[in-house]
Amino acid sequence: MIARYRKRYGPTWTEHFPGWPPTVVTSDREAIRTVFTGDPLRRRHASEPLAPLIGHHSLLMLEPADHLARRRLELAPFHGKRVQAYADRIRELVSAEVGAWPADTVMAVHPRAQALTLAVILELVLGVRDEDLQNRLASTFESIMTPRLNNLSMFLPRWIATETRWNVLTAHAWSRVHRLDRLIHEQIAATRADPHLQSRDDVLALLLLARDDEGKALTDAELRDELVTLLGAGHETTATAIGWSADLLAHNPGVAARLRQTLARGERDYLKATVKEVLRIRTVAPISAQRRVLEPFQIDGYAIGPDVAVAIDADGLHHNPALYPEPDAFRPERFLDNPPDGYAYLPFGGGAHRCLGAALAMLELELAIEAIATRWVLEPVGPPARPVRRGPTWSPDNRGRVRIERVRELAEPAAAPALA
Ligand code: HEM
Repeated sequence: MIARYRKRYGPTWTEHFPGWPPTVVTSDREAIRTVFTGDPLRRRHASEPLAPLIGHHSLLMLEPADHLARRRLELAPFHGKRVQAYADRIRELVSAEVGAWPADTVMAVHPRAQALTLAVILELVLGVRDEDLQNRLASTFESIMTPRLNNLSMFLPRWIATETRWNVLTAHAWSRVHRLDRLIHEQIAATRADPHLQSRDDVLALLLLARDDEGKALTDAELRDELVTLLGAGHETTATAIGWSADLLAHNPGVAARLRQTLARGERDYLKATVKEVLRIRTVAPISAQRRVLEPFQIDGYAIGPDVAVAIDADGLHHNPALYPEPDAFRPERFLDNPPDGYAYLPFGGGAHRCLGAALAMLELELAIEAIATRWVLEPVGPPARPVRRGPTWSPDNRGRVRIERVRELAEPAAAPALA
């Protein structure tokens, strides 16, 4: 629908969905720059539809001044350099998953990637090392994040999504959310009581120790909402990008071959460019930001007010041939030769609410694509996947189904005899 409207109306149009404010959708680079710059206190999120799951204390839900203070508090654990400390452990988790794939079979990469990214979040972000709690959290979270509930939660009128005693329609979904809450509070309490808390490096431990300018720590209710936000924002998104990577590599063997060659020479620039190109050509969150601008705001000569939401059409931006020649070609080289500026590349949104986990996501993707490309030759089993909506993300309709065969010249000595 977005692509059709873009073709019909150009880079900017207004959508009227029942139960939503009028929404101006734009891929106009100049309008986007204006949305993301200026006084951060004059730009408000438009994340209300997410409130039933992530709660009102989540970073995504805070009003501008509170949001700025909270970002300051939470930035440290997600900083690029800090995140590099997780690289070894993520590499181990990736190797265990990707190394266990069955050779010479057709398999769907997206579900395997979901298990992997959930394990990363549970261990490195929530600090859950107990296998039983990991399994209970994983199954409860998965029971909430189904494609159907994800889609419904975006378009249901607010009064249906609200929890009340008489609202039987959503009672079952709410009971799952309460189960998730109990498990998260169990983990918060255990982490608080951990005598080794000071030496732990998972995000929850760092958040428990963090203090704002007035020396105040996050409350349990705030921590609950942040942890659910991190689970929701960080797991499915990254898994989806890995699923798309499999489909793209299978259909572009030249890219896969160059990846293997450059990695064998110890060069990582082409790998990093491939990660960026995956996130461009298959923008995981095609509407990558929504804001209410609390001051008169101009787009294309039209003045809009705070009662209107502005939605950033990152998919449209990423397929603009003026910014990306031959936009439908999967060509990581474009990020080596002539990288785009920040307002032309927005897989992680931008401005004050830009994705907090971007550095962690890029690291996970880098290590996952490296592990896949150096171990497996992927072959397509049908036409390139088409995007289907899973809540706010677009995922491959074939679930990243590819045929996998071992790469002949494996870098790992232990695996070499099996290839002879
Ligand atoms: C490929 C993977 C990912 C993609 C495509 C992605 C994309 C996004 C987008 C589009 C936003 C909204 C930005 C805006 O409104 O301007 C966002 C926000 C956010 N993301 Fe990510 N994300 C990814 C991975 C992660 C990870 C791994 C984490 C953490 C574990 C994470 C945590 C967050 C948080 C906390 C926010 C809210 C930031 C705020 O409101 O200030 N994301 N992400």
